[in-house]
Amino acid sequence: MLMGFLTLFSLALAQSGPQLYQQNCAFCHGENGQGRVGAFPPLAAHTTELIKTPEGRAHLINTLLFGMQGPVRVKGNTYNGVMPAFGQLTDEQIANLLNHILNAWGNDKLLPRDHRPITPAEVANARSVSSRPTPQQVGSNRTRINVP
Ligand code: HEC
Repeated sequence: MLMGFLTLFSLALAQSGPQLYQQNCAFCHGENGQGRVGAFPPLAAHTTELIKTPEGRAHLINTLLFGMQGPVRVKGNTYNGVMPAFGQLTDEQIANLLNHILNAWGNDKLLPRDHRPITPAEVANARSVSSRPTPQQVGSNRTRINVP
C-alpha cells in the first residue's frame, strides 16, 4: 500500500516541469536557467523572447523533440554546441518542460499578454511530421529568428 503510493507519487513528480527540468536540463542550462556563457545559452529571460517571434513556438518544440546544432547568438554571446534531442519524453512531459522554462525564474512576468501555454497536442503535431528535422536543420531554422 505504502509502496504503491510512493510509486504513484514519484511518477507524478517525474511528470512535473520543475522535476523534469532538474533531471534533464539543469546540468547544462543551470539551476536557474542562467546557462553558461559560451557553452550553454541561458533560458531565463530568453525563452520569453523566442516565444514572441512568429517562429519561436515551433522552434522551442522542435529543439526539445529533435535537438539543435549550429551557431546561434544569444544576448551578445555566440554558442555553437549540441543540444541533445529529448524525443524519448512523452508529449505531456515535453509540454510541461516547455511551460516550465517559459514561466520559471521570473519569465512569467516577461510573457506576452496573449501567451497560451504549450499543449501536448502541439507537441504531438510537431512529432508526427513526415520529415523530421535534423538538429542541424533546427539550428539553421533558428538563424531566421531575430532575438537579442
Ligand atoms: C548537454 C547539454 C544540454 C542539455 C542536457 C540540454 N541542453 Fe538545451 N541547449 C544546449 C546547447 C549547447 C544549446 C545551443 C545549441 C546550438 O548551439 O545550436 C541548447 C539550446 C536550447 C534551446 C534553444 C535556445 C535558442 O536560443 O534557440 C532551448 C529552448 C533549450 N536548449 C532547452 C533545453 C531544455 C528544456 C532541456 C532539458 C530537457 C535542455 N535544453 C537540455 C545544451 C543542452
